[in-house]
Amino acid sequence: MVVLTGASSGIGRATAYELASRGHRLVLAARRAEELTALARELDPSGSRVIAVPTDVTGEASRRALIGAAHRHFGRVDVLINNAGVTVERGWWWDDADPLRVLRVNLEAPIELTRLLLPELRARGAGHIVNIGSVAGRVPFNGMYSASKFGLRGFSQALRRELLGTGVHVSLVSPGFVRSEMTRAARLPMPGPEVIARAVADVLERPRREVIVPKVYRLLVWLDSVLPGAVDRAVPPVIRRRYAHRQG
Ligand SMILES: NC(=O)c1ccc[n+]([C@@H]2O[C@H](COP(=O)([O-])OP(=O)(O)OC[C@H]3O[C@@H](n4cnc5c(N)ncnc54)[C@H](OP(=O)(O)O)[C@@H]3O)[C@@H](O)[C@H]2O)c1
Repeated sequence: MVVLTGASSGIGRATAYELASRGHRLVLAARRAEELTALARELDPSGSRVIAVPTDVTGEASRRALIGAAHRHFGRVDVLINNAGVTVERGWWWDDADPLRVLRVNLEAPIELTRLLLPELRARGAGHIVNIGSVAGRVPFNGMYSASKFGLRGFSQALRRELLGTGVHVSLVSPGFVRSEMTRAARLPMPGPEVIARAVADVLERPRREVIVPKVYRLLVWLDSVLPGAVDRAVPPVIRRRYAHRQG
């Protein structure tokens, strides 16, 4: 069975639909209890295959309670999907009162949840940890958010190597912009979150080092690696427009 964080909206919610449709049993986690419970009931009115566990992934007790609830209901955890994520919502990160919360949600929580589950997965010689990174973890554009996603990418790929041959897989899914609560202020053409949900469900069937979706973002990643100066010139006006809009 699958523990999915950040299931109350956006990519997590779309992933819950996709995984349920492919027959996975789910533990849905996020802070908004009402949304989460309604989603669990919608996906599984019986309450036997999908449960909601209101969770704040930044709290140690809350993380332990999540894994405890998964064990009580299903007896085991096979897959952890670290999807919960935040960014600095308004303005520049250095003006935010608590910018490090981005690191706590996007990086510390996945590491701590992984640490809680690894003994079980390693003992069983099977399991899968899927981290939701970002193209911002390849092409930096927002200091705090990119720091968290570069960190998560490094963690994922190192952990994958550390666990090679153990039967425990680690995959990283790195989305470009898609429609969600996180991107509601962005004025860009964006697909819906279902494209990411399908990529997540696919890596459960075939583990991958990293999948960048939508595919067009591979071009940007490649461009930033070979011609970072060109991206320097193109990106700052985009960022300034984006932040000017958000602050207005
Ligand atoms: N949308 C994009 O364009 C995009 C691009 C690249 C990467 N991503 C990544 O995709 C993931 C999902 O983001 P999204 O776009 O779907 O945004 P979203 O709609 O804002 O969803 C974020 C989810 O994270 C949960 N969350 C936030 N803080 C939490 C906490 N402390 N404890 C538990 N859950 C928490 C939220 O639930 P509650 O508020 O109910 O807690 C919500 O379910 C994130 O990791 C994000 O960085 C998104």
